[in-house]
Amino acid sequence: MFKILFICLGNICRSPMAEFLMKDMVKKRGLESAFYIASAATSSYEIGNPVHPGTRKKLAQYGISVSGKTAVQLTKADYNKYDYLIGMEASNIRNILRITGGDPEHKVYKLLDFTGSNRDIADPWYTGNFDVTYDDIYEGCTALLEFLQNKNQC
Ligand code: 4NP
Repeated sequence: MFKILFICLGNICRSPMAEFLMKDMVKKRGLESAFYIASAATSSYEIGNPVHPGTRKKLAQYGISVSGKTAVQLTKADYNKYDYLIGMEASNIRNILRITGGDPEHKVYKLLDFTGSNRDIADPWYTGNFDVTYDDIYEGCTALLEFLQNKNQC
């Protein structure tokens, strides 16, 4: 079982996009039972709020629903609960490490690390561009899934 937590600043735009896209990819490959996938925020800004309409609209284009998801904040206990804690940009990584108190088990990544790139994923809360963010998240999740499948555990 792979336990994956996607993380961004607010948990209303990018990390829920990654969570529900990854869940969809895993389901389409019949791998649901091998994964536990969720998302969280480094900040408290949007706690309890639903997914941003821009993310909802973009995922709906691909028949993906985010129904029931509301923003939650990353906790120190999540470090032990998950195998992979995956941020979207460098500032997320700094905030994750602040909350977890470090990364002794090397569980913390940026999503595009899995594509071999050091790039950040732009925040559509500021850019307004959910299309570019979706393309990056799609590329990152595809590479992450390939990476995990290559580990031969699913
Ligand atoms: P996210 O975007 O980190 O991709 O969910 C943001 C959402 C809300 C805020 C910032 C970024 N905010 O400042 O409330």
